[in-house]
Amino acid sequence: MTQYSAVLPAKITSNESSVKDQAIGIFDSGVGGLSIAKCIHQYLPNESLIYVADSLFAPYGDKSSTVIIERVNKLADWLIKQNVKAIVVACNTATVIAIDQLRSRVNIPIIGVEPAIKPAALHSKTQRIALLVTEATAINHRFLALVNKHKNGAQTIIQPCAGLVELIEQGLHESKECRLLLNDLLQPLLKNNIDKLVLGCTHYPFVGTMIQEIIGDKITIMETALPVTEQLMRQLSDNNLLASGDHVFQQTFFSSQVTHHQEKLMSTLFEKKSSLQPLPLL
Ligand code: DGL
Repeated sequence: MTQYSAVLPAKITSNESSVKDQAIGIFDSGVGGLSIAKCIHQYLPNESLIYVADSLFAPYGDKSSTVIIERVNKLADWLIKQNVKAIVVACNTATVIAIDQLRSRVNIPIIGVEPAIKPAALHSKTQRIALLVTEATAINHRFLALVNKHKNGAQTIIQPCAGLVELIEQGLHESKECRLLLNDLLQPLLKNNIDKLVLGCTHYPFVGTMIQEIIGDKITIMETALPVTEQLMRQLSDNNLLASGDHVFQQTFFSSQVTHHQEKLMSTLFEKKSSLQPLPLL
């Protein structure tokens, strides 16, 4: 496996306000992390964002840990070269597999995504919760340890969702094919008297409405965009890195495989024409 050396923030400058006004880097295997980016923009409207969709390598869920760690390090190093002041790993799979290693070599705040197992278990009346995750997350030891730590005596069902990220990446999140796949994945869970369904992949909120239609309104869907945003706010505040009040934000989007669907999604979510640029080959 490639050895990565320690990386310092690309621009440690004596001018404090310029560090504060540097962008926050956000990345995911594709468009999924936009669900997190949108929430960050909502709560931190004057922060500049650089978003990277690593769509050429999507899905991460069927890749080996070695491949995922390699991609995560390359993306983080590229973002650091763009002078980001913090990085949000807006991907559950990348977080469970690569964040510890990344944090050990990079000395800017690195915020990961963790599925909402704790609040789901805490508020479950039936004491049965289900988690939708990628295949790589489902077998990851860090994820399984997290489930054990937070399940609070609840019975947990882990459902890997092979094929779902691919459909969302292709813009087929409202298709019949997607409904059929979700039906297959969700029907067995419904027989288990669950009352909380945790979305353990940042792509899945894009099919949240369809999921809710299938599971009905007695089961609550739990997602993580807000807790991640709160954690980011805490980290920026603790490190005196919140953007200054008069900072005019900029949003820049990159993709390792630009598609029309991504362009459309970004414009819709961010309510203005967003330009999507090709990520240089890493
Ligand atoms: N959005 C990523 C996650 O949260 C999807 C991973 C994948 O590409 O399989 O896990």
